[in-house]
Amino acid sequence: MPRHRIYRSNAERQSAYRQRRRRRLPVYHRHKSDEWETPQELFDELDREFHFTIDLAALPHNAKCARFFSPGDDALTRHWEGVCWLNPPYGAKLRHWMKKAYDSAQAGAIVVCLLPARTDSRWWHDYVLPYAEIRYIRGRVKFNGVSNSAPFPSVIVVFKKNSPPPR
Ligand SMILES: C[S@@+](CC[C@H](N)C(=O)[O-])C[C@H]1O[C@@H](n2cnc3c(N)ncnc32)[C@H](O)[C@@H]1O
Repeated sequence: MPRHRIYRSNAERQSAYRQRRRRRLPVYHRHKSDEWETPQELFDELDREFHFTIDLAALPHNAKCARFFSPGDDALTRHWEGVCWLNPPYGAKLRHWMKKAYDSAQAGAIVVCLLPARTDSRWWHDYVLPYAEIRYIRGRVKFNGVSNSAPFPSVIVVFKKNSPPPR
């Protein structure tokens, strides 16, 4: 026999409903926006071309390079150099990651990013469109550990000093 809970208020009933609903949703709807892990084949293909020396945003279990920055290091406060792989958290700070990628490239780093193709966002127009090489990915990326393809389009963006020439 199912147990029927008695709720003290309508608000409590609604909150319990929302929790039950969240638990039933497919994985990709409740994916944390900073944990879209790059598929290994996509990384390997780019690594063959660029030979990355550091993963700028990672945890030990999802790092793509032996050298990496984790949230404890806070990559946004560190110096970026060499050939950098970056699949950043896709949350509100994405603009800061893009500014840092642009600035670091002007200082000599190469920063290759996997990003959501948010072509209407300020960071896209301020940093990506004028200054980066953009490679549009056909179809949707199937991120590691997620059962469905992403519900958004993705791009590879390459920041290099003075590249590309202004369009
Ligand atoms: C989208 S995942 C990418 C993971 C992996 N590097 C990859 O390419 O699959 C972003 C990672 O950045 C980490 N992260 C979040 N904030 C960070 C910060 N301030 N500095 C370094 N890493 C951070 C998150 O914990 C998460 O593991």
